Amino acid sequence: MKVVAGSASFILGERVAKEGGWEFIKPDIKKFPDGEIYVRVPEIDEDVILVQTTYPNDKIIELFLLQDALREMGVKKIITVVPYFGYSRQDKIFNSGEAISARAMARHIALNADAVISIDLHTLSILSWFDIPTVHLHATVPISKYLSSKNVEVVISPDKGGYERAKLVAEKMDAEFDYLEKTRLSGTDVVIKPKNLDVDGKIVGIVDDIISTGGTIARASEQLRNQGAKKIYAVCTHGLFINNAIENMKKTDDFASTDTIETPYSNITVAEIIARGIEEIMENLK
Ligand code: R5P
Repeated sequence: MKVVAGSASFILGERVAKEGGWEFIKPDIKKFPDGEIYVRVPEIDEDVILVQTTYPNDKIIELFLLQDALREMGVKKIITVVPYFGYSRQDKIFNSGEAISARAMARHIALNADAVISIDLHTLSILSWFDIPTVHLHATVPISKYLSSKNVEVVISPDKGGYERAKLVAEKMDAEFDYLEKTRLSGTDVVIKPKNLDVDGKIVGIVDDIISTGGTIARASEQLRNQGAKKIYAVCTHGLFINNAIENMKKTDDFASTDTIETPYSNITVAEIIARGIEEIMENLK
């Protein structure tokens, strides 16, 4: 088996290959003057693990071209790893006439894949749109290791939806966990604080699936600081860090994301959990 990565995931692809003891192959990827993308993969006569995050838009086209190139050369099994699944947030029709973008992505990725692996999907309904085997992984272990290294005592989700994630992370490091709850005191007064725990004097880790503009983390940090948190660390699986996100992150003592999206802040690797996920799916494909 060989690991091929698209340019959104060159670093992670190489790390996955190292973890699994597979050879890493970096394809030739270029852009034509009009912006169209060219890919060329060296001849491979084994099954392939193809790693590519589908963000931003160009990387989606790259993935489709790489899948096509691999099929064209007769690769029998293509295990497609999509570390960050772009368009996952439009997973239903909010207003009539809209596309279910996450479903459109799933259907197109499945055209030239034999199995798909992804991590901390925004919604699990995405898995149901694949007509091929899927494995859904969680970055719980590497995230808990990062927070343990910062001596975090309380793991907080910025909302109720992320409570299970905070719980799983906290349980791995023997820490307390909670989520932030908004309580309206009057027409003008709203207090946002951990539902059950007191963070006064504590080292707190905020865990989210995505950091996009950083607004959620900035607001959560301000509230936790007001309630006496001694130190605040923010961590997420998918760090997009768009607009003034880095400015917002200054409200924390430190922050990091995993390498599902490769940025200067993606200091936590999910390579090991992906390698184990690949081994699991290969057993099912036998
Ligand atoms: C929301 O459902 C997600 O879990 C994140 O909290 C959200 O996407 C973060 O966005 P931002 O960084 O722009 O506040």
